[in-house]
Amino acid sequence: MISRERSDKPLLKAENIWVVYPDGTIANKGVSISVYPGEVHGLLGENGAGKTSLVHAIYGVVRPSLGRILVDGREVRISSPRHARRLGIFMVPQHNVLIPRFSGRENILLAGDRKTLARAMDIISSIDIDLDIESPVETLERGLVKKIEVIRALATGARLLILDEPTSVMSPIEARELLEMIRGLREMGYSFIYISHRLDEVMEVCDRVTILRGGSVSYVGEPSDVRVLEERMFREVDVDEGVGEVMDNLNIILGVEGNGQLEYARDLLTYNGFVGYVPSYPYASIVPGMSLVDNVRFRVLDREDVNPVETAKYILERYEVLARDIYMDIGKLSGGNIQRFVVGRELEIGRDRCVLMFPSRGLDTRSTRLIWMRVREAAERGVDVYYFTEDVMEAVNLGGVVRIMYRRRVSDGVDSNELDVEWARRLMSGIGWNA
Ligand SMILES: Nc1ncnc2c1ncn2[C@@H]1O[C@H](COP(=O)(O)OP(=O)(O)OP(=O)(O)O)[C@@H](O)[C@H]1O
Ligand SMILES: [Mg+2]
Repeated sequence: MISRERSDKPLLKAENIWVVYPDGTIANKGVSISVYPGEVHGLLGENGAGKTSLVHAIYGVVRPSLGRILVDGREVRISSPRHARRLGIFMVPQHNVLIPRFSGRENILLAGDRKTLARAMDIISSIDIDLDIESPVETLERGLVKKIEVIRALATGARLLILDEPTSVMSPIEARELLEMIRGLREMGYSFIYISHRLDEVMEVCDRVTILRGGSVSYVGEPSDVRVLEERMFREVDVDEGVGEVMDNLNIILGVEGNGQLEYARDLLTYNGFVGYVPSYPYASIVPGMSLVDNVRFRVLDREDVNPVETAKYILERYEVLARDIYMDIGKLSGGNIQRFVVGRELEIGRDRCVLMFPSRGLDTRSTRLIWMRVREAAERGVDVYYFTEDVMEAVNLGGVVRIMYRRRVSDGVDSNELDVEWARRLMSGIGWNA
């Protein structure tokens, strides 16, 4: 595990993987991927392309209908995540899996024993990072928690670690630190499958990438050119770029989550009118097991001006939700498609006001631009929109009035086209506020 020789033998090789769900959806159509020791392998593709399905096949969560998986050159039938872990393949899901009340040390001990903890300490000192493993996990920044999850997986035997959108809820600084740690671990010989929509990160940390489009591989190679990656990821791009005029009923609240946004949003929801609301975890506002149309219906029970069937169809079309029809189970949509559905529903029914908590998280760049367009259209209809984001460039591009939030404080409003990016970044990290 120490040398970083690029051996000829892949650690993992998946060949011709087909993933077909019981309802007939074909998520992977003959996908192949190989990962070498000491390689960070990016897995890209727009929402619904089949990324999570592929790693679930590798991690033993779903059984591929066809295809073979080889670990260290030997064919294996991975029957469960537990089996995958015995083979050295681990997955860190998007959301925190540690016990919040416990410290990092306790969480690591729970996953193994004293030897596991000793190995964790060794890894931490080899890559020379500062990691607080004594404080309760719930008191730590999200970036630190993710790092502890990574170390814990490696200490319990991971050789290949699958990270599904690890930075999608992190601030840019936290993301940078995580990437640095991954680079250190790569030097030690560990391998990663890195799923991300952030191409700048991918360019920075990935040795090679595999891009999926519509369930098939559209590109394998080094990530040398962002344009090439985008070309291979997306179907034709028909979304306008460029910013429209600044709209003063489009309020953009820029700041790292956890700086009082929830309280701010709560105040906005207490309002005499119909308010659309997208929580920062959109799954919290759907009912899996119910159809898409019923997921519209329950939101508009007291509204006579909204027809759930028409609205559901409209959302599918206008927000490009990849769904068979409006009667399918919403729980079977991919992460990004659920996100687009919820944003669409709330923008379309939010007649007077619409509060959107980090609505572009987990969306690919094309979908993000689509959401911006729909947000602006809602504002044009006269809806007061409140758009919370952590991304400065989003605040610049949306074209509204930007306020920066830090530790419950809110700055004066600045028009998007006059926003000084450096100034905004400093305020976001607490520099430049008057006492
Ligand atoms: N349990 C399931 N049953 C039926 N279809 C499913 C199920 N899970 C995913 N799908 C479908 O498989 C396809 C691929 O989904 P997958 O979650 O792999 O995409 P993804 O690339 O991870 O997308 P995202 O970036 O949005 O997370 C989608 O059309 C999705 O609706
Ligand atoms: Mg996914």
